[in-house]
Amino acid sequence: MSGPTSQTAGAVLTIDLEAIVDNWRQLKARVGSAECAAVVKADAYGLGAAQVAPALAAAGCRQFFVAHLDEAIVLKPLLPAAATVSVLHGPTPGSEAEFVARGVRPVLNGRSQIDAWRRLAQRLDRELDAIVQVDTGMARLGLDAAELQGLASDAQSLVGIRVSCVMSHLACAEQPAHPANAAQRERFVAARRMLPPAPASFANSSGVFLGPGYHFNLVRPGAALYGIAPVQGSPNPMRPVVRLEGRVIQTREIGAGTAVGYGEGWRSERPTRIATVSVGYADGWLRRLGNRGMAWFGGVALPIVGRVSMDSLTLDAGVLPEGALSPGSLVELIGPYQGVDAVGNAADTIGYEILTGLGSRYARSYVGSAA
Ligand SMILES: Cc1ncc(COP(=O)(O)O)c(C=O)c1O
Repeated sequence: MSGPTSQTAGAVLTIDLEAIVDNWRQLKARVGSAECAAVVKADAYGLGAAQVAPALAAAGCRQFFVAHLDEAIVLKPLLPAAATVSVLHGPTPGSEAEFVARGVRPVLNGRSQIDAWRRLAQRLDRELDAIVQVDTGMARLGLDAAELQGLASDAQSLVGIRVSCVMSHLACAEQPAHPANAAQRERFVAARRMLPPAPASFANSSGVFLGPGYHFNLVRPGAALYGIAPVQGSPNPMRPVVRLEGRVIQTREIGAGTAVGYGEGWRSERPTRIATVSVGYADGWLRRLGNRGMAWFGGVALPIVGRVSMDSLTLDAGVLPEGALSPGSLVELIGPYQGVDAVGNAADTIGYEILTGLGSRYARSYVGSAA
């Protein structure tokens, strides 16, 4: 069976590869002489790593980050030989040899990953490349202060490991005035002094906008490539990337006092028209958007009324002239009138969660040339 097409699917998801490439170029221009990588984990934040990563490689991107080895195994053959794929979570115990076999670089996040990587290097009798991550204030991944001290005082600990980069990750970068940013930076600079000299990587998308002091040698943006606003409370300088249009299945006229959807989640105060759209929470259109989110048609906002169902949602389309919407019409769910950040806000979450949650039933189309 072939995949959903724009005729048969309940919604059409259009991804603009040229906008992604432009966003990468913009970030690259912002970091001057530092290198700009691309974070393409979680299937390029839901947008399709198999399409996104080669487009970025064609534009000159040479460093790619994913979370899992499995993601790297799929990605590696799609990229030029000169491209490096790094795995943020590092090797799960026993998977180290697979990294070498696949030509994939691990991020080593703690002493046990470092020790296992060193033992493999000794067994293979060759130097093995790796990134070493230090924790500077997230307590999520990376060497903590005690591990770093232990590593620095053990001359054998990194024998056989070529540390090609030292990295850390910012916790609060989207809030430029947050004191954690400078505090993490200070800890990062101190941590680097305790490790073999190596290029450094610190900034995610938002970190790029904290200024040159945060760029070091390699930046690792993800979200901003995909059009998500990198700085809280500031205009979004990135090009929008995603358009999601849901298909109307049916419209109906209802009288005042009519209950709509599960749990009678909404009741009309006046006669109006309901449009039922073929997108629901199984498609990543969060249930939380019931009675809160909206869709757009011809520049007119249509509130989601009642609860979002598994496969559909209901709009109050009473403001539109009769016949404006009919079965097959497409309404905008993400697009020029409502960006992905706005959808995240309406759902009490972030654009990241909206993008990575987009379902598999959409007809996907990629536009924009790759290079
Ligand atoms: C370690 C690491 N670096 C970089 C990124 C990219 O961050 P962003 O999408 O905010 O640019 C992530 C994403 O979560 C990450 O976990």
